[in-house]
Amino acid sequence: MANLLPSSTRTIPDIPSVPRHIAIIMDGNGRWAKQRFMPRVMGHQRGVEALREVVKACRSLGVEYLTVFAFSSENWRRPADEVSFLMSLFLKMLEREVANLHQNNIRLKIIGDRSRFDAKLQQTMREAEQLTAGNSTLTLTIAANYGGRWDMMNAVQAMLKEHPQLAQGFTEEDLSPYLSMSDAPEPDLFIRTGGEQRISNFMLWQLAYTELYFTDVLWPVFGREELEAAIASYQKRERRFGRTSEQLPGKQGA
Ligand code: IPE
Ligand code: IPE
Ligand code: MG
Repeated sequence: MANLLPSSTRTIPDIPSVPRHIAIIMDGNGRWAKQRFMPRVMGHQRGVEALREVVKACRSLGVEYLTVFAFSSENWRRPADEVSFLMSLFLKMLEREVANLHQNNIRLKIIGDRSRFDAKLQQTMREAEQLTAGNSTLTLTIAANYGGRWDMMNAVQAMLKEHPQLAQGFTEEDLSPYLSMSDAPEPDLFIRTGGEQRISNFMLWQLAYTELYFTDVLWPVFGREELEAAIASYQKRERRFGRTSEQLPGKQGA
């Protein structure tokens, strides 16, 4: 079994001043394009540039894990031409950016159900992950055809396949190695751009004690400054994990 990372519901995790793990719903691409009388897909294209800048900023700020939602399990419901644009953009992005990520010692991972992607995209994903597997400055995880419910269902199925006896009952520790983010600490900070205040089936399990930050800024214009504002907001939060304020380390009257 993989080594288990601390779980926010089982032990009290360390509270880093700069988030170790940031999870982002990159939303608002379509509206950004629409405001400029451009087709929605131009917003996705600009979105890739915003991601490049945010990756760079995370790396220089010392963030260890950045997980971004690129395509949800519900995004197949969009018009076919937008979906196919997104697929080809994904492929192009991988082909174009992976060498650069590798040069910058960034590890790329992809989570989600890949079986629905075409063979070429699946192969490019595998190659990108293999090439960058040993890198250590930042782990960039792209969630593609990902859904939080899918992740949990998939984990339960995989666990029971390997350990059928656990159908009688299992613990969080039994299940967590099978979740797709099992090798990363739980996110400290969640950011959603684009003004909506919802989780949209992103990391349902892992966000249990994550600090949530919502901004109206649309993803294509989100950059280092906005990221720093989100981190500054995070730094003002009191992360209690169920305890009272007085019980926190450094507080009097515990
Ligand atoms: C997020 O931007 C990107 C994806 C879901 C792929 P949207 O395309 O959802 O942009 P809005 O929300 O319509 O503005
Ligand atoms: C969430 O954005 C998914 C991604 C950013 C990839 P959506 O734009 O699809 O979310 P909803 O449908 O508005 O909740
Ligand atoms: Mg949207």
